[in-house]
This record gives sequence, structure tokens and C-alpha cells, in this order.
Amino acid sequence: MKIAIVFHSATGTTKQLAQAVAAGASTLADVDVIQAEIVGTDIVEGRFRNSNLLQQLDNADALVFGSPTYMGCVSSQFKAFTDATGDLWAEKRWADKIAAGFTIGASLSGDQLSTIQYMQVFASQHGMLWVSLDIPGNFDVEQRNRLGAQSGLIAHSMDGNVHETDLITAHYLGQRVASLAKRFTAKQ
Ligand SMILES: Cc1cc2nc3c(=O)[nH]c(=O)nc-3n(C[C@H](O)[C@H](O)[C@H](O)COP(=O)(O)O)c2cc1C
Repeated sequence: MKIAIVFHSATGTTKQLAQAVAAGASTLADVDVIQAEIVGTDIVEGRFRNSNLLQQLDNADALVFGSPTYMGCVSSQFKAFTDATGDLWAEKRWADKIAAGFTIGASLSGDQLSTIQYMQVFASQHGMLWVSLDIPGNFDVEQRNRLGAQSGLIAHSMDGNVHETDLITAHYLGQRVASLAKRFTAKQ
């Protein structure tokens, strides 16, 4: 079972969430977790050119997407990555893989949900199966999912520090993706 977390992070907060997702996924037995970071040098003349990273994702059973919210959507670096998957889309290479997503913004309600919804549409374009968060916000006894989105994890940081509750929620998302990916592939 391979789970890849593919993310972009300029100032490190999305990366902290990615690490928490990876730690959560790694708690399950027989799960191999890859953290695939999109960096500036992957993009040449506006196009994402890291074919090794795409190959890593191709080999994974589940993909978790992470991006900061920039101007109400994914960052341009993350979008360059998604645009580079067009050939894989045409070949249905990622169809039936499990997918999920997380994002962070500097505002409490800075349109982070729009970022998650883009990721969900992107996953659907590939025929992937979207995994929601399944934590009922304010009703959760551990107070996880403090910002209350259900489609994916949205987080908030004003100073570069990621709220402990957001990291715990990210850890849970990683566990949930790994658990569902194991169940789904076992039935195939
Ligand atoms: C160009 C730009 C656009 C941004 N747009 C938003 C936004 O629409 N909503 C929001 O809440 N935060 C916005 N932010 C803040 C970032 O999402 C926030 O600082 C985030 O933690 C950065 O993630 P990173 O540390 O992984 O780079 C923006 C930041 C930048 C640089």
C-alpha cells in the first residue's frame, strides 16, 4: 500500500500539515508513505516538469493533495502540477485511486474551502474517489476540525505556527485515507 502526499508550501505551514498527514498514514501497518513536495525548480517557463514526481504518484494507491490557499484557490505552483497531469488523465492512469486534500490560509474564512473544492474537482476529473474528513466539527469530543469543513481539512495560521488542533486533524486525515485505501484495495 503506497500513499503519496503531494503538496506545495512556500513558508512551511502546508508542509507541517503534510508531515502530520504522513505521520497519521504511517500509523497503519504495511503502509508506505511518500511526501512529494512541489518546489519552484519543478516549474520551467510556467510548466511543471518533474516527471519523477509524477511517476511516484502514478505508483501510489492513494494521493493526498496539499496547497496553501492563494487568492481563494490552490497556489499557481500546485496548479502547474495539476495541469501537468493531462496525459495521465487521458490514459485514466489515476482512475479509482483514493484522494483527499488539505489547505491553510491566513484568514479564518479566507476562501480555503474553494481550494478544497478545486482539489475535489481535480480528483474527479481523474476518476479518483474523494475521501471527506468525517469529523463533525464542534460536536467532536476531541475538538478536531475546529474550522468545520467536511470536504477536506482547512486550517488557519497568521504567524507561521500551525494550530495543534489542525495538526491533530491532519494526522487523523492521514489515518483515514490509509485505512480506506487498505479496505478498498483489499476488495479489488
Ligand atoms: C499570494 C498569496 C495569496 C494568498 N491568498 C490567501 C487567501 O485567499 N486566503 C487566505 O486565507 N490566505 C491567503 N494567503 C495566506 C497563505 O495562505 C498563508 O500564509 C499560508 O499559511 C501559506 O502557506 P505555506 O506556509 O505553506 O506557504 C495568501 C498568501 C499569498 C502569498
